[in-house]
Amino acid sequence: MIKKVFILFSLIILVACDNSFSEKEQQKYISKGKEIAEASFNELSSQLMSQMKEGGPAQAVPFCKENATVILGELSNKYDATIKRSSDLLRSCKIEPTERELEIIYRYQKLISEEKELEPIVEIDLDNKKHFYAPIKIKANCLVCHGKLNETLSVQTDSIIKSIYPFDIATGYSEGDLRGVWSITFNK
Ligand code: HEC
Repeated sequence: MIKKVFILFSLIILVACDNSFSEKEQQKYISKGKEIAEASFNELSSQLMSQMKEGGPAQAVPFCKENATVILGELSNKYDATIKRSSDLLRSCKIEPTERELEIIYRYQKLISEEKELEPIVEIDLDNKKHFYAPIKIKANCLVCHGKLNETLSVQTDSIIKSIYPFDIATGYSEGDLRGVWSITFNK
């Protein structure tokens, strides 16, 4: 009897494992996710920096408002995925973090406070969709628009930002802080 129950349980476990996200698949989505996040970061960053060079924050901030979502939309089509940036402290009111994104942001913040490494995360949801999350950290060149008022963020730039984003709370950061996460959902 005990043996039968044991066999039955083993079968259930085997079937359950078969349905889950295999280690090999997870690795595949980790590397896909990393590639997409890196390409997205490079695209946003290079376009933003050329706008900054051309016309400073007065040109780069409105450029971001008009183009950040468009650029990510084009890359989403290219990679057959939905590419999103998410944060607990938002500038754009068009970006709403999901509950899961917030949980992951808090998990990363805790790891930073413990001085641990942050690794990308892949998960499968109840609808069988695969998700990739990775940290977005603040670098020195982000501070002109996301830094501390009167220190790294000038009053002038802050007022340009506030005129376009009256509810902006995405400032006060220092280098190395967690700005948010990449949240990529694969179509297949
Ligand atoms: C020229 C000013 C400027 C610089 C420099 C800048 N940002 Fe932003 N950032 C913005 C604006 C404007 C938005 C809102 C974009 C929108 O409306 O979609 C934004 C939005 C974001 C968002 C999306 C979440 C939110 O709050 O809306 C993230 C994440 C982000 N920035 C990270 C960074 C990082 C990381 C860097 C440095 C590598 C950086 N930014 C540099 C202006 C800037």
